[in-house]
Amino acid sequence: MTIIAVAGKGGTGKTLVSALLVHFISKHTSRLLAVDADPDSNLPEALGVSKLVRKTIGEIREAFQTSRDEMGSMNKEQWIEGKIYGEVVCECENYDLIVMGRPEGEGCYCFANSLLRGVLRKMMKHYDYIVVDSEAGLEHFSRKTIDSADYVIVVTDASMKGLTTAKRIKQLMKELKLGVKEIFLIANRVYSQEAERNIRKFADEEGIKLLEVLPFDEEVAKIDMMGLPVTMLNESSEVYKRMKKVSDFFLKLKATI
Ligand SMILES: Nc1ncnc2c1ncn2[C@@H]1O[C@H](COP(=O)(O)OP(=O)(O)OP(=O)(O)O)[C@@H](O)[C@H]1O
Ligand SMILES: [Mg+2]
Repeated sequence: MTIIAVAGKGGTGKTLVSALLVHFISKHTSRLLAVDADPDSNLPEALGVSKLVRKTIGEIREAFQTSRDEMGSMNKEQWIEGKIYGEVVCECENYDLIVMGRPEGEGCYCFANSLLRGVLRKMMKHYDYIVVDSEAGLEHFSRKTIDSADYVIVVTDASMKGLTTAKRIKQLMKELKLGVKEIFLIANRVYSQEAERNIRKFADEEGIKLLEVLPFDEEVAKIDMMGLPVTMLNESSEVYKRMKKVSDFFLKLKATI
């Protein structure tokens, strides 16, 4: 099991990168789980599978919270497990998908969350790859929604804000001890050689491996405008070609572990 979490500042291209990773990795294994961990969920749309989504993990947590008192001696972990497999996991063509949904409301969700974490951890073991499209910023890391990750890809644009978020994520990973083996950077929507030079300099100074530099891509903009999934990108698209290389990198990385 290799968990790849995609993080970074808002709007930098996390969902684009996550969806294309899922698209390419699913061509090599069917033991792949895509996780939409953004409360403002849109990975299913990017993958073109939103019709298959039924319930979110958040909805199961709420249902558990309201009915736990009536459950009596029923095995609560099994109840949650049954709900997740029966109502949350979407079986897509060559991978599975779960949507985390909204975070908990008011009240004490410690018990529900600890059961959920256990069930999800057990479930994840059935997959070779797990790709997590994260919420923008850093919140979820400190809340430990993702309670482990092998690799973190930070997607940034050329802005100082994007790079600062990348730097903070790296620091936070160290502090939280999530078991991350390596943090990588993908620069997206890079519009000039000067911007690329600046990002390369940042990556060197911070000691973060820059996996790929993606340009602004008319094909992506076109797909976006038509409301089509990014998996329908033309093979001649620069972003498509470069993300294929990134996926090959992770497939090789797995093979060498
Ligand atoms: N290289 C690119 N060329 C053209 N358009 C792009 C490129 N990368 C991303 N976009 C577009 O920019 C928008 C934001 O991308 P995306 O949704 O992947 O970002 P995000 O980081 O997931 O955003 P959020 O923080 O809101 O979840 C989308 O409309 C996407 O199609
Ligand atoms: Mg997103």
